[in-house]
Amino acid sequence: MKACSRPGRGSVLLWTLWVQLVLSGSGVSAGDATKNCKLITDSKSERKALERLEPLVKINFTVESKIANESYTYVFQLCGDAGGVPGAGVIQEDKKTQKKTIIGRYNTTQAIGGSDWVMLIYGHGDHYSVHCSKETRQAIVMISCDRKIDMGPLEVVLEDRDRLHECFYLFELDASAVCPAIESKLSTGSIILIIAVCVLAVYLIGGFLYQRLIVGAKGMEQFPNYAFWVEVGNMTADGCDFVCRSKSRDDAPAYRGVTAEPLEEEPEERDDHLLPM
Ligand SMILES: *[C@@H]1O[C@H](CO)[C@@H](O)[C@H](O)[C@H]1NC(C)=O
Ligand SMILES: *[C@@H]1O[C@H](CO)[C@@H](O)[C@H](O)[C@H]1NC(C)=O
Ligand SMILES: *[C@@H]1O[C@H](CO)[C@@H](O)[C@H](O)[C@H]1NC(C)=O
Repeated sequence: MKACSRPGRGSVLLWTLWVQLVLSGSGVSAGDATKNCKLITDSKSERKALERLEPLVKINFTVESKIANESYTYVFQLCGDAGGVPGAGVIQEDKKTQKKTIIGRYNTTQAIGGSDWVMLIYGHGDHYSVHCSKETRQAIVMISCDRKIDMGPLEVVLEDRDRLHECFYLFELDASAVCPAIESKLSTGSIILIIAVCVLAVYLIGGFLYQRLIVGAKGMEQFPNYAFWVEVGNMTADGCDFVCRSKSRDDAPAYRGVTAEPLEEEPEERDDHLLPM
């Protein structure tokens, strides 16, 4: 309400509301930054889940991991060559020997999206030499919503290789990019209400100033269209009277007539009788 009385802030507010209305109607088109990732099954839902990760493209995530006397550095990049290895989405580098092992390739991508997370799976990594029936390695990166940070550090959760098939390396990452969009707090109804209140305030203030300064009205007459609103008030009262009153108005005068008239006429009648006598 306060903003409305000042034209500058009022118009800015209205403009913001209008922009919000327009933007909520049309979705922002997605870019093709994640196009390098090749989905195994190019379904719409997977493409959509992948597009949610767009802010992470070209960022170099690294994490160090130490298990017993083995020390590794993992590098993850979204739809780009991790650690400079062509085709690799996730690599593992042995700290001692500097040997690079591809855990997953981005030409074999799967993306599964939930309400506030996206699970990225890179398949077709280098073959295990002993474990997991000598299958190819695969990396699973679980990206979860965290509004407080743009994107957090990569974390190694586990390497599950003590099984016969479908072994995987699991990583975690927090990012605000996968968070669900916050619904606009202003509904269309409240926007219309705000506009109506603004228009009413402008009408009252403008009309008041006009009546006072230009017409020179005083007291209640300073209200804009005072006569009109008085008339509206009277008509409303009449309408309410008509609708709400239980006793009909037409009966009232007749009833009054019965009691009032004889009282007034009686003395006159007596006088008439008396005069001729
Ligand atoms: C990724 O980060 C690591 C460590 O910060 C760095 O050594 C490497 O050069 C970076 N790679 C790219 C492609 O930016
Ligand atoms: C340390 O590594 C060597 C070979 O890399 C291995 O033979 C040895 O068992 C390891 N030691 C422990 C305690 O895991
Ligand atoms: C991905 O790239 C690797 C190495 O270049 C290749 O062997 C493999 O067939 C490719 N996979 C797909 C699904 O294109």
